[in-house]
Amino acid sequence: MALPLHSIVIFALLTLAHGEPDLPTSSWLRHCEKDTPTPVQGVTEGVVPAWLEGRLTRVGPGMRHVGSTSYRHLFDPLALLHLVTVQGGEVTYTSKYLDSDAYHANMAANRIVVGGFGTAPFPDPCRTLFDRVASWFSRPPKIMDNCLVNVLQVRDQMVAMTETDEMRVVDAETLNTLGNKITISDYVAIRQATAHPHVDPDGTVYNLASSGNRHGPTYNIISLPNGEIEKAKMEASILARWRFHPGYMHSYAITENYFILLESPFTFSIGALLAGRYFGKSFEEAMVWFPNEKVHFRVIERRTGQEHPTTFTSDAFFTFHHINAYETSDDMLVIDVSYIESGEIVKALYYSNLNKSNTDPTKFKFDSVAKRFILPMGRCQRNAHRK
Ligand SMILES: [Fe+2]
Repeated sequence: MALPLHSIVIFALLTLAHGEPDLPTSSWLRHCEKDTPTPVQGVTEGVVPAWLEGRLTRVGPGMRHVGSTSYRHLFDPLALLHLVTVQGGEVTYTSKYLDSDAYHANMAANRIVVGGFGTAPFPDPCRTLFDRVASWFSRPPKIMDNCLVNVLQVRDQMVAMTETDEMRVVDAETLNTLGNKITISDYVAIRQATAHPHVDPDGTVYNLASSGNRHGPTYNIISLPNGEIEKAKMEASILARWRFHPGYMHSYAITENYFILLESPFTFSIGALLAGRYFGKSFEEAMVWFPNEKVHFRVIERRTGQEHPTTFTSDAFFTFHHINAYETSDDMLVIDVSYIESGEIVKALYYSNLNKSNTDPTKFKFDSVAKRFILPMGRCQRNAHRK
């Protein structure tokens, strides 16, 4: 998700811009009451090199509290856009709340009515018992455009993304939200897509999505030629290994000839997801980590959209972010990831856990290291052909 973790850098910059004296124990715990749409002049120490000019745009969690309700998880607060501009030796900082349907729905109700990854919507306290029972049989309104995970420059547009099928276009200079939300599933048959697409040198945007068919949940690679959503198409579709437990993948890897999906044993329970919609549960509460199961490296050939006949495996781990991937001249496929031992990391990012002291033995800890996996594609190709 850039995960909300990406906003660490920006929070640090924000601190510099405002010169805030009393830092909380963790910048992740911050709640932003009011955005700063008018650029704030930074205080410069030293000299900004004359050649250094440009913009750095990020998005992350901003508003944690709405009325008397609070988001429970770091991945959920209302999206706050950040812009650091360096020009002529001067540095300015601007922030603006994403003008999303989620933002407006929450503000109108003065409570969290659009939940998130680890926060279920708060029910209307005025609803009668009958209303609540009736709601079990009706679909909640679909508002999934709190795009707090990543921003991506696509041609001349800045797009804010999250891990649903909804995106928002943002003016890169003013941070104004432009037009209506874009719903990817209006153009290609998916249910959700990651917030970490790859842009090929030819301008095609590729992304990992998910959907399902009569055989079970599927992982999909979709493409947007020249970044145009109207031209979105399905490049590949492969079945998840478990019919009722698709793996959670936050990003994926791409090389000249392959898409690589790391299907970890950190999964969504389909049954728990369906039940959770009606019983006020969050997405996170439907997730299951199988520590004794393997990670499957699912390799898809870009040219054909077909999965490689060999499934490469590893002991269980989880990753949010891929670092790099490339092919070597001797047919090796190299994949570098930010390696996390357990999918339990998402529990560590609940505010109730982040608020605990580091010396508290009940606190979920989290850490990641860079790890490299090397897949011997050439050798496997030859073995596959001998079958
Ligand atoms: Fe991310």
